[in-house]
Amino acid sequence: MYFYVTVPAIVFIVYKVYQKWSCGMCTSDARMTGKVVIVTGANTGIGFETAKDLAHRGARIILACRDEGRGTTAMHKIIETTQNKNVVFKQLDLASLKSVRAFAEDVIQTEPAIHVLVNNAGTGKLDNSLTEDSLPIEAQINHFGPFLLTTLLLPLIKASAPSRIVNVSSLLHKVGKVDPESFHKPAKNSIQHMRVYSNTKLANMLFTRKLSRDLEGSGVTVNCLHPGAVSTDIFRNKYAISRFFIKLLFKTSFEGAQTSIYLAVAPELENVSGKYFVDCQEAVPSKSAVDDKLADKLWELSERVVADSEPKKNI
Ligand SMILES: NC(=O)c1ccc[n+]([C@@H]2O[C@H](COP(=O)([O-])OP(=O)(O)OC[C@H]3O[C@@H](n4cnc5c(N)ncnc54)[C@H](OP(=O)(O)O)[C@@H]3O)[C@@H](O)[C@H]2O)c1
Ligand SMILES: *[C@@H]1O[C@H](CO)[C@@H](O)[C@H](O)[C@H]1NC(C)=O
Ligand SMILES: *[C@@H]1O[C@H](CO)[C@@H](O)[C@H](O)[C@H]1NC(C)=O
Repeated sequence: MYFYVTVPAIVFIVYKVYQKWSCGMCTSDARMTGKVVIVTGANTGIGFETAKDLAHRGARIILACRDEGRGTTAMHKIIETTQNKNVVFKQLDLASLKSVRAFAEDVIQTEPAIHVLVNNAGTGKLDNSLTEDSLPIEAQINHFGPFLLTTLLLPLIKASAPSRIVNVSSLLHKVGKVDPESFHKPAKNSIQHMRVYSNTKLANMLFTRKLSRDLEGSGVTVNCLHPGAVSTDIFRNKYAISRFFIKLLFKTSFEGAQTSIYLAVAPELENVSGKYFVDCQEAVPSKSAVDDKLADKLWELSERVVADSEPKKNI
């Protein structure tokens, strides 16, 4: 009996010690006073912790969230804990290209500069509905929406150089494929769903690389990361028992946000671009993620898809 309690307990303790020890923490104390930062999906999880940390460092923070109630609640919490009053909520629904355009227009008209864009928002929800733009909702939230957002904000980000784009991808990009079909057909079961999610995360990686090439010498860097296995709302639809184990075994959101924060602030990364990071260290992406031909192909496809949604001019 004794055995069945102590062995799992020891295994668990060793695991937790290893997890805390191996978890990369952002040790930079760089200040961000005078910098303007956008964090998408900042009302909870990794995005919330990233926004809070950057607010602590004195930046102006734009919380780009889809729900006004959750967005403003997060805003008040961050202002209260950091005493930085320069934190605002702006509505952004990545599942609507119209909303992405409206958000970008508002930012371009009202903000003097954008120094950091953290493309953090993402979904792992199995949902096979189509958006108002006739795209599978997951592909749009994780890929087409952030693609359009980044493209629209790019002129302002360039004009604000030195500036940075930080993309939250996932380890699962390693099993992703660029399969244009999967971006058009919604997933019907959890296996197909895994595939769509991984494909969107591979797309994040490919674009990071492509954009970093296009931006060479512009003073804008773009890097991507895997936050680790993190206990966040992304697992909200799982069974109570799985949620219990996820909470027990996975990183906290604060730990999960460290690599995003590191990429946004570390002075030593000033000239580092097109790279992939895990636990605040450069890591090796999958072979497909560094396939430049694939990146070009996907870029063309994505441009076509978002161009189709452009508001038609009345003739
Ligand atoms: N957790 C992990 O283990 C893990 C591992 C690898 C990668 N990631 C990536 O990390 C990122 C952050 O995830 P998380 O774990 O922090 O998840 P989370 O707690 O579920 O947070 C996701 C955020 O994205 C927002 N969002 C979802 N759909 C949106 C839309 N249509 N428009 C605008 N915002 C939207 C959510 O807003 P609502 O609150 O309104 O839903 C929420 O603020 C994601 O890109 C995810 O793929 C996470
Ligand atoms: C990542 O960055 C590229 C630009 O480099 C952007 O087009 C793409 O949609 C971004 N995706 C996310 C969510 O990481
Ligand atoms: C980045 O490049 C600029 C210009 O070449 C140089 O002045 C600066 O020292 C570099 N920064 C780092 C951290 O290497």
